[in-house]
Amino acid sequence: MAHSRLAAALSAGLSLPSGPVLVLRPPATADLSSLDPERLRIHHTSRPDHDAWALQGLIVEERPGPAEAALVFLPRAKALARGLVAQAAALAPLVLVDGARTDGIDSLWRDIRARRPEAQDVTLSHGRLIWFAGGPGFEDWQLPGPQRRADGLWSQPGVFSADGPDPGSALLAGALPPRLPARMADLGAGIGVLSLAVLSRDGVQSLDVIESERLALDCARLNIADPRARFCWADAVAAPLGPYDGVVMNPPFHASRTADPALGRGFVAAAARALGPRGTLWMVANRHLPYEAALRDGFRHWEEIGGNGAFKLLEAREPRHAETAARPGRRLRAR
Ligand SMILES: C[S@@+](CC[C@H](N)C(=O)[O-])C[C@H]1O[C@@H](n2cnc3c(N)ncnc32)[C@H](O)[C@@H]1O
Repeated sequence: MAHSRLAAALSAGLSLPSGPVLVLRPPATADLSSLDPERLRIHHTSRPDHDAWALQGLIVEERPGPAEAALVFLPRAKALARGLVAQAAALAPLVLVDGARTDGIDSLWRDIRARRPEAQDVTLSHGRLIWFAGGPGFEDWQLPGPQRRADGLWSQPGVFSADGPDPGSALLAGALPPRLPARMADLGAGIGVLSLAVLSRDGVQSLDVIESERLALDCARLNIADPRARFCWADAVAAPLGPYDGVVMNPPFHASRTADPALGRGFVAAAARALGPRGTLWMVANRHLPYEAALRDGFRHWEEIGGNGAFKLLEAREPRHAETAARPGRRLRAR
């Protein structure tokens, strides 16, 4: 765990300079208690994590600035991890990187040692904390920002299906009816694959493109040039949403490396709350994921409308909680 690795590093001789400590991408569950909260400057592009730190009263910065030290929490995507290290090295004279073996900290350690032979580390709890001097030498790791993938859509490391189209999303995009209701939302919109499909159908007057990862939402903004779209950097499960007439989604089902169907069930419940009384949900899910009970709890009617061996396409109508969801004044603001 980050705290014990950090505590071990501090007792092994790591000394943090006084002044601000930038913390890049700490998961909401990270233990930062061995650091002075007054000095922390948190930066996270995932809205639930960003909000969790803000709720604790810590300073959360949307644009990270220079600091005396920068602590990176290693994400799974290698290019994003390197980009964060480059960002940390450019902003602080001391860089710390904390990560799990399963997220690639050992190969990053080798790569960092090739550039900073004096780098030090502690290993603990199936992970490693590395520290070394910031400054020049990591410019080639900097993230270039969104790039076009082979299919022409803008994407970047750290977003869902970064390198190419997801077969489940493609299946749902092709199966949506030719005419859709007026007020639509795409929950967990990623780079906007389903949103583009929605906007290609007749009848749509507005579309809320709701995504918690700003790296993905930035790409969606580039992919969707349509005045009917509104881009919302939001936690679809926690934010007040709606009312909508239709929702599409390919919900997330991974917390870190572990499949967690509770995430998708939260999305089903959020869609039910956000839809008006006659609203419809269209979703795609990996065939093995158990969403049927959540659909039954949230909607009066649901059915499987297609799919294949890997994915199921589900349609649900008439949410049970429509009365509450249809209350006025619950609109989400675009960000
Ligand atoms: C399986 S991907 C689908 C992306 C996109 N709809 C597509 O079909 O390509 C799920 C998306 O949900 C986003 N996500 C995860 N948790 C979220 C949350 N609490 N609120 C909003 N979006 C979330 C992820 O960042 C990811 O982009």
